[in-house]
Amino acid sequence: MAYQRVEIPRERVEQQEEIAARIAARFAAEGRTVTAMVDTYGCQQNESDSERLRGYLAEMGCTFTDDEFAADIIVINTCAVREHAEQRVLGNVGALNHTKKARPGQIICLCGCMVQQKHIAEKIRMSYPIVNLVFGPDEIWRFPELLEQILTGRKKRVFAVETQDGVVTEGVPRARVGGVKAWLSVMYGCNNFCSYCVVPYVRGRERSRRPEDVVAEARSLVAAGYRDITLLGQNVNSYGRDLGGGTDFSDLLRMVNDIPGKFILRFMTSHPKDATEKLFSTMAECEKCAHHIHLPVQAGNDRVLREMNRGYTAAQYLDKVAAARRSMPDLVLTTDIIVGFPGETDAEFADTLALVEQVRYDSMFTFIYSPRVGTRAAAMPDPMTRAEKQRNFDRLLELSNRISGEKHAAYVGKTLEVLVDGENPGEACPHTSRTKSGRLVHLRGDAAPGAFVTAKITDSTTWALFGEVVN
Ligand code: 5AD
Ligand code: SF4
Repeated sequence: MAYQRVEIPRERVEQQEEIAARIAARFAAEGRTVTAMVDTYGCQQNESDSERLRGYLAEMGCTFTDDEFAADIIVINTCAVREHAEQRVLGNVGALNHTKKARPGQIICLCGCMVQQKHIAEKIRMSYPIVNLVFGPDEIWRFPELLEQILTGRKKRVFAVETQDGVVTEGVPRARVGGVKAWLSVMYGCNNFCSYCVVPYVRGRERSRRPEDVVAEARSLVAAGYRDITLLGQNVNSYGRDLGGGTDFSDLLRMVNDIPGKFILRFMTSHPKDATEKLFSTMAECEKCAHHIHLPVQAGNDRVLREMNRGYTAAQYLDKVAAARRSMPDLVLTTDIIVGFPGETDAEFADTLALVEQVRYDSMFTFIYSPRVGTRAAAMPDPMTRAEKQRNFDRLLELSNRISGEKHAAYVGKTLEVLVDGENPGEACPHTSRTKSGRLVHLRGDAAPGAFVTAKITDSTTWALFGEVVN
């Protein structure tokens, strides 16, 4: 497929901000306070995209709400990775018929990966007439322009999907949620074409932001008081390949680590085939870098891994884990696993269980395979029943919970530094916090969001730790 990197010129982004200002002036002239709601499905990349949508909406003078009956503008940022998320979105859009009746001028927008698929865009066009605006992930940067066409009545419905590919935009305003944790996209798209995955089709080919743009944004985040920065990409390990400038992901990590100030530096996701010794040693050397890798294995059987087009065997994966642990003995390791890939037998699934027993992940995200239109796996014979897949899934979950519980229990009695990042109002532990390697700690005692405090871990469950602030 022909593919071109498209850098949107700054002037064109600035034009969008001018349109946003024009919209704000229009609302003000009408004497309206306009409320907006942004609902996000899926991964951190979508969370990050939603921050840009909120950034534009804030520039339009909107205030935000979580109540769809109170919203004048509703934006649903969708996910296409599994069918379940798509069904939830369509269900929720269907329910908006009621809110639109109660609030006739309400504008409903759908964006993100799901609507980038032709068959879904068609379905919305034909069956969901209440939706006014539909736009793909590469069109987010021109949201004001698209929305203005609806607001002025020039158009009743706008569909902006499959028009561009390979977009990189700098300078879109952001309204970040919370003042402690920030997402920072370093690249977009994916070239891997794992046979089950729709992402390369909806997010296009890999393209990296320039290192100087990433570092400048990280610097401004630190200056604004953010203390927990996560570098984002579908496969951060291939960062920079398309730029040809010689800066790889390890170099980028070091550049961000060198920004003065106290903060935790995280990243996700790493593809095992591209995780290198250089990455592990850089992580070990960079004092701000969390010793945590999210390293999706997907399956433990070599035939299944080959059919998935993952580019590694179980043994090669285990070698990477061993190398990472040599560099960082305190490494926290998490993963994604798909159960019931087409043709996976019970014996092959047993290899996944064995690998999990061997690696002992700190936590895991487990999914039952979901066929995605247009992917290679969707055309593969899939004889296993849903009930059999569910049974295997339950076994994996039980194993994962047992190991996570054991790993968490080993923290009890330890004293370690945590970053306070939120509140649990009314709970016995009124604060939430994270260890440097990302474990959730519910915290008692005197603490404020954004503070690094020393915590003694007093208790644990499968999913979290509990602790108290100590001086
Ligand atoms: N079915 C089930 N899980 C999937 N994932 C990606 N595509 C599918 C699919 N078609 C999972 C993978 C990936 C995570 C983000 O979602 O485990 O790592
Ligand atoms: Fe999907 Fe594979 Fe790319 Fe991850 S690496 S986004 S699973 S194609």
